[in-house]
Parts: sequence; C-alpha cells; structure tokens
Amino acid sequence: MTRSQTGKTKRRLPDGSHITVVTADGDRVPVEISVATVSLSDESVIYGIFRDISEQVEREREFKATTQRLQLALEGTNTGVWDWNIGTDNVRWTESLERLVGIEPGTFEGTFDAFAEYIHPADREKATATVEQAAETESRFQTEYRIQCKNGSQIWVESRGEIYDDGDDTKRMVGIVTDISERKERETEVTRKTEAMEKAPMGITLTDPSQSDNPLVYTNEHYCELTGYQESEILGRNCRFMQGLETDPEPVVEIRDAIDNEEPVSTVLRNYRKDGTVFWNHVTIAPIRDENGEVTNFVGFQEDVTDRIEREEQLELAETVFENTQDALFVVDVTDDDTFRVQRVNEVYEQLTGISNAEIAGKTPTEVVGDEIGGEIESHYRDCVKRRETIQYLEDIPVDGESRQWETKVTPIIEEGNVEKLIGAMRDVTEMQNV
Ligand SMILES: Cc1cc2nc3c(=O)[nH]c(=O)nc-3n(C[C@H](O)[C@H](O)[C@H](O)COP(=O)(O)O)c2cc1C
Repeated sequence: MTRSQTGKTKRRLPDGSHITVVTADGDRVPVEISVATVSLSDESVIYGIFRDISEQVEREREFKATTQRLQLALEGTNTGVWDWNIGTDNVRWTESLERLVGIEPGTFEGTFDAFAEYIHPADREKATATVEQAAETESRFQTEYRIQCKNGSQIWVESRGEIYDDGDDTKRMVGIVTDISERKERETEVTRKTEAMEKAPMGITLTDPSQSDNPLVYTNEHYCELTGYQESEILGRNCRFMQGLETDPEPVVEIRDAIDNEEPVSTVLRNYRKDGTVFWNHVTIAPIRDENGEVTNFVGFQEDVTDRIEREEQLELAETVFENTQDALFVVDVTDDDTFRVQRVNEVYEQLTGISNAEIAGKTPTEVVGDEIGGEIESHYRDCVKRRETIQYLEDIPVDGESRQWETKVTPIIEEGNVEKLIGAMRDVTEMQNV
C-alpha cells in the first residue's frame, strides 16, 4: 500500500499482473501490467506499462480447448499418448493411456521400466527392444504387443513413436498406443477359418462371378491332391476344365442352371484328374452373399466318391443276378457269437420252398425248420465260417411235409478279416437223386 497526494490509500498491482480493462467503446481487453521504478535526481518515478494480451489469451483458450478435444478423441478411439524424456527417464502418460491399462488417472509410476511391466511377458523383450532401438537410432517405430491390464485382462495394442525435438537439448520420444484387440480378434478368427478351410479333408474352391467366366480364385490343399493340379495351374480358370468325354451332360446342366439362378446345388459327375484318370466327383456348390444379398462368390466342395459309386454299381449288379438266377438264393448274417440269421431270400427260393421272405427274414434255421434239421444246417454254416471258403453239400429239407433233397453251395463274405455273411445257392436235386 502507498499513500497518494490526495492522502487516499490505493492498491498497487504487482508487476506481471493480468487485468481486464474496459475501453471507451465498451470492449473488454485483457492487459498485462509491467512496472518499473526509475530514479530521477532525488525522486523515484514508477512507470506502469499496459500491454494488450488479447491474442495470447485467445491462443491459450484455443490450446486448452484443443487439448480437451484431443483428450476426448483419444478416449473415443481407445488411444493413449506417452512422452518419454530419455535423459531423465521420465515417462508421462495421458489419462486415456492410464485408463487403457486400467489404472486411475495420475497413478502411472512414470519410468520406462514401469511401462515395460505392463507388457505381456511373452512380448516384453521384443517390444522394449524396438522402442529402445528407435530411441538410439533416432528413428520411428511401429509395433504390436499385448498389455496386461491391472484387472488381469489382456489387450492387444499398436504402439508408434518417434524422437521429438522441442528446441532444447532434451532428447524425448513421443508416441501413441491404440487398443487393437477387436482387430486382432477378427484377424485371429479369419486365420482360424482359413486354416480350417486349407486343412479340410475335402476339396474346397472359391470362384469369383464378377470376373469373366466365373474363374477359380481359391483352392485348398485337398482339392489339389484330388485333382493333381497345383493351385497356380488352375487359378483363373473355370472349373469345367475337369470335365471330359465321360462326363454326363445332365449334372453339368443342373450345375449351370443353379449358378445362373444363384441357388445351391449338389450332384455327382465324372471328372478328370491332371494325369487323365477319371473319378466320380460329388460336387456341392453354394452362393456366398454380402450384407446386401449380392452374390460375391461361389463356394464349391469336392469329394471323390468313386469307391462308393462303384460299390453301389456292384450291389446293383448283384441284386440283378440275385433276383434273376434259376437257383434258390439266400443271404445269412453271421453275428459275433456265430448265430446265423437269414437276412433275405430270392423269389426262386420262395417258390421252391414255399417259405416267403417275410416269414424267414431275421430267423435262425432252427427257428424255421426245427431243432433237428435246423441244427444240421447250422453246423454246415459253422463249417463254412471255420474254413473261410465255399463249401458244397447235399441236404434233406422237407417242403410241405414232403422230403426233398438239395444240393447247396455256401460262400463266406469276408469283410475286414471277419466272415460277416454267407451267400447260399440251393438246387432241388430230388429227381436226379431218384434217377
Ligand atoms: C465353386 C464352383 C465349383 C465347381 N466345381 C466343379 C467341379 O469340381 N467339377 C466340375 O465338373 N464342375 C465344377 N463347377 C462347375 C463348372 O465350373 C461350370 O459351372 C459348369 O460346367 C456349368 O457351366 P458351363 O455349362 O458353362 O460349363 C464348379 C462351379 C463352381 C461355381
């Protein structure tokens, strides 16, 4: 306080004070006051300098607003910023980075080692070495690693940083850390699915209908094994290169119509391998659509079903023979405990014996013709199973109470080392025996 000439006490503002003055126009202007005392002969004079600091105040206000917006943006994008003073080993984290690792704002310990502690042990050495090397060589770095959060959970982050020059001799590095857990999760998912497709035990192919002639854009390992082609030899070609002279036109038309109508289709057709051999291919094709329902690709599954088709063909042939032969035929199932149950008989058997398929199927010989004759029949079957070869014998089996003689031939059907069935053929030789 000082005493003025009028004797009133005035408040003296210290040097460097900021005040707001109101101009004659009524504008409010922020000013900074500088004060200097000058000695003039025997008097000391105090000078006050008023400086308009509107621009500086505006800049500070903008800086504060920008910082606030940046903080919001960092939080919103799960990103944190760090600043490492390499000389003093002082590390500063933004609040958003502290939140990212699950600690309270203002509680980060503030050193490089403290930062390293948050990195997953499996990634720690590589991540810290990357940062330290970039600091040493004054270069930029970008790396990905896992962070162990305070609550025990784990996140994947992408970390980027570079040396920062703030004009003095202090060497600093600044960088950002972004939570990329979701992207990583998606990448892992894609890798898992691609791996599953690649290793699937059936051919998998993808075509791109947006390209001319719907060419192959992907084939898995099994498809290459199945066809004998390398992926590079067939990518870009339409799958019809697998067809040839022995390919029936019907399934090809079926596939063409389904593709034209963007519908799934499943069919079996003859295809050719690279070495010219033919196989039966069970092809299943389905359209893949995007979120708008547009077909982006077709996926095809290929399976070599040659064995199955050939077995079916053989069975069909056997069936024809079974039903058209002149002999009475029967098939017997052999169970593990050597019980013999008739599986089926043919029409000739039904006519000659008067026993229908419905009556005899599922029964043992004893159940059909009684203990004595049934027992004899079963002992022949046991003999056949033991010898594992075709046997032939004469037997008496009455028909309608009348004694008749049969020449019977029984053949074992061996599957995986076991006699699973017996096929029998009987011929009525009563008249011949009488002669
Ligand atoms: C994904 C996909 C996989 C296919 N896989 C086969 C295949 O393994 N063997 C085959 O003969 N045709 C396959 N085709 C069918 C042919 O590429 C073609 O569509 C078919 O021959 C009918 O068309 P086209 O009459 O123009 O030849 C596949 C088609 C697609 C879209």
